[in-house]
Amino acid sequence: MTELIALITGANKGIGLETARQLGCHGMAALLGARDEARGRAAEAALRAEDIDAHYVELDVTDAKSARRVAEWVGARYGRLDVLVNNAGIAVRGGPPSETSPDVLREVFETNVLGVVTVTNAVLPLLRRAARARIVNVSSEIGSVTFMSDRSSPAWQMPASLPYPASKAALNMVTAMYAKELAGTPVKVNAANPGYCATDLNAHSGFRSAAEGASVSVHLATLPDDGPTGTLWGHLWGAPGPGQYGTLPW
Ligand SMILES: NC(=O)c1ccc[n+]([C@@H]2O[C@H](COP(=O)([O-])OP(=O)(O)OC[C@H]3O[C@@H](n4cnc5c(N)ncnc54)[C@H](OP(=O)(O)O)[C@@H]3O)[C@@H](O)[C@H]2O)c1
Repeated sequence: MTELIALITGANKGIGLETARQLGCHGMAALLGARDEARGRAAEAALRAEDIDAHYVELDVTDAKSARRVAEWVGARYGRLDVLVNNAGIAVRGGPPSETSPDVLREVFETNVLGVVTVTNAVLPLLRRAARARIVNVSSEIGSVTFMSDRSSPAWQMPASLPYPASKAALNMVTAMYAKELAGTPVKVNAANPGYCATDLNAHSGFRSAAEGASVSVHLATLPDDGPTGTLWGHLWGAPGPGQYGTLPW
């Protein structure tokens, strides 16, 4: 069988590195997008030591030139792309909405929203050349307006905050609109909810592992042809057991 090609952004650590590892274990070539060469090369070496076909590619998702360079390199080497996991993300605490600076919002949106559009548009021609491409946007239940405004959900205990939740809500709409544009093509576009995972993003306070979070992206990256598109899918926080997954409300 022809090897499938997967590009994962922010793949040098956390959920992104685990996603690359798991897709590699599925037999895919894992292209590790990282903005820092030393961190990207270290991740590449770690995965290659596990016999994974891993390749570091320099990719800062906020830099359109860097996204174009990656698209050119992937096109020249493979001629197509089968999987794109838009995983790179940042979280900045902005205080309550009434004290949030637009500059902080802008910074978070640059990576979590505009970065996804930049990278997706750069590689979409390559995804269209694949037999059945999958785009996974790593979002969060924190971006679900329904979940965040439900007084009976665990989210109600969190302090009100704008930058990260609003960026993931925007990413959910970005996902829905790409899915709408690509409906009727073999490209499926879904948003992933990894659940609350212990990574650098949250000073390792999460109650799930990065590998468990990555399994959500891998599920959506390997959907069969009759699988869904235009959904937010992943860990259900309020569910009784640790392995509870399903479709979340936007
Ligand atoms: N952890 C959770 O509980 C949780 C829950 C829901 C959703 N998520 C989402 O999961 C994704 C991965 O987060 P994580 O928890 O694994 O966090 P993490 O360990 O902090 O990893 C974030 C990754 O994104 C990269 N990144 C940030 N800005 C970038 C840019 N401009 N260009 C390229 N790469 C960039 C980081 O690279 P550097 O090493 O260079 O900074 C790092 O590789 C994020 O989208 C996050 O919002 C996480």
